[in-house]
Amino acid sequence: LRRRLEDAIDAREAELQRTELDRRLTEERVDVTMPGTPVRRGHLHLITQIRREVEDIFLGLGYTVVDGREVETTRYNFDGLNFPEGHPSRSPLQTLFLDAETVLRTETSPSQIRTMETQEPPIYIVSLGRVYRRDTPDATHTPTFHQVEGLAVDEGITLADLEGTLDYLLKALFGEARKTEFRTHHFPFTEPSIEAHVSCHMCDGSGCPICRHSGWIEIGGAGMVDPNLFEFVGYDAERYTGFAFGWGLERIAVLRHGIPDLRELWRNDPRLLRQF
Ligand code: PHE
Repeated sequence: LRRRLEDAIDAREAELQRTELDRRLTEERVDVTMPGTPVRRGHLHLITQIRREVEDIFLGLGYTVVDGREVETTRYNFDGLNFPEGHPSRSPLQTLFLDAETVLRTETSPSQIRTMETQEPPIYIVSLGRVYRRDTPDATHTPTFHQVEGLAVDEGITLADLEGTLDYLLKALFGEARKTEFRTHHFPFTEPSIEAHVSCHMCDGSGCPICRHSGWIEIGGAGMVDPNLFEFVGYDAERYTGFAFGWGLERIAVLRHGIPDLRELWRNDPRLLRQF
């Protein structure tokens, strides 16, 4: 009796399942060719893209990419770079100190000293990363930004090599037509020193508040390595010469893409970032 009951239940259950399956196959048909819900793909931040692009440009020229440290000692951030005692950059009004001998690096230049301390010439390196300054934010400044540092040390390196290299970089980043120029300048760690300027991205040279009506925006410094640095790291300053440069990646980004305000790059509004 039990077996008959169980068989009847099983048969009925199988029948119900078949009916339900038939119902679903007819009623719940899906059109697999219909488009689904789109999932938006993310992408690298513009600064990361430029960072990688600059690295690629220099890898193509035979340079090596080296890492620096965001937390530095005053020995590498100032002493090794020939900053005299009492230089304004050594003041806590300009630099973020963690303690008397430790700072958030104010530039990527300490990587020059760290590289030269551990390697012999010839040296051809770039080092990219974040730097920190007690700057008041405005359209062309933020207290945290990114730099690319370059250093070449070899026999017979001249200012012409520096200008040729920077010219190549400018053309790679901005194209042949963009107006650029070098001006004399001063840095404690280079002699002579130059500063590179690119025509303003907002007025294209006619003058506006962002370029302070000059038509130009500074993109970074450069120069021939001061022999005092070679002495600091124990290089023969009679035998070797070198050049160095340090440029801002945010400046490259705004100048190239016509972004009106560099602070936009730190707001991370997807409506801006999506455009790059
Ligand atoms: N470190 C300098 C700055 O941040 C730029 C620079 C680097 C100048 C290397 C000369 C050589 O302003």
